[in-house]
Amino acid sequence: MKFPFFRSRRMRQTEGLRKLVRETVLSLDQLIMPYFLVEGTQIKTEIESMPGQFRFSIDRFLGELEELEELGIEHILLFGIPSRKDDHASGAYDANGVIQKSVQEIKKRFPNLTVITDVCLCEYMSHGHCGVVEGSHVLNDATLPLLAKTALSHAEAGVDMVAPSDMMDGRIQAVRKALDSNGFSHTPVLSYAAKYASSFYGPFRDAAQSRPQFGDRKSYQMDHANVNEALREIEMDIEEGADLVMVKPALAYLDVIRAAKVKFNTPIAAYNVSGEYAMVKAACAMGYLDERKAVQEILTSFARAGASVILTYHAKEVAQWAKEAGTPFLVKSYKV
Ligand code: PBG
Repeated sequence: MKFPFFRSRRMRQTEGLRKLVRETVLSLDQLIMPYFLVEGTQIKTEIESMPGQFRFSIDRFLGELEELEELGIEHILLFGIPSRKDDHASGAYDANGVIQKSVQEIKKRFPNLTVITDVCLCEYMSHGHCGVVEGSHVLNDATLPLLAKTALSHAEAGVDMVAPSDMMDGRIQAVRKALDSNGFSHTPVLSYAAKYASSFYGPFRDAAQSRPQFGDRKSYQMDHANVNEALREIEMDIEEGADLVMVKPALAYLDVIRAAKVKFNTPIAAYNVSGEYAMVKAACAMGYLDERKAVQEILTSFARAGASVILTYHAKEVAQWAKEAGTPFLVKSYKV
């Protein structure tokens, strides 16, 4: 079809026509809001590098969840920050650990909320690595039982889904087996399947106090130049029993989301990570970007690339904006 018979602009003339042919519709149902929980009481401390995000103690967090429920966000991801760390991550699988105790309270008060827990050891290890360390090595196979134990303890606390984020080989299988053999064959696993060694996790590591004390995570997280390897990681995790697979970070990895969407029929999640959030917040604080428009464009790009689930620190404010515009369930409809 050629100009002047065909004119692309015809269907862009009004918001009504644009809505009619819009290809990507984003719903609040797809969003997961991540949170950081600490031990203690009466704590709600803003995270400096993530304006608008806080570390909560469980008592204050229940109030936050009331707001979230009111806004229509129904899924959360939890990270625990223990008050003591050691070299075998004992806080990660302690039945009375910060996550295990918090999950029990949350599920009691909010039985319909989807509670997902990050399963990793870095926040609980004194050295800040995601596995057991010997010398300067992060040991793969010695880490697996600890991850399995951690996931099981979360399931026992009542979590709706576990999300291993460590990038050890074979951990989905280890977690799946531990769950299945202990009566939790119904508990789904969201795998951080293609997780890259990324500079965009910087603010998270401040928030979770999980910066590695030596070296980096490049021996277990992926090289950012690779996409075939991501597909192999995802394939492996699906074979090991992952119910959902994640690409992380999201914004600089839209091609990876797309490639995964084309190849697999397992739902794909995109993690809009701390550094991506911080960039938007910093630019908006300077007045360089219109925040609502920018966030909508970014989140839509994940869905357009092929993600059906989006983990984002913007989830709560997006719901607030949707509510202000009188359209509580559809992100696409909030007025900017
Ligand atoms: C734990 C974990 C990290 C993130 C999620 N789970 C940090 C890391 O791997 O260093 C990053 C999340 C974010 O940046 O928002 N391993």
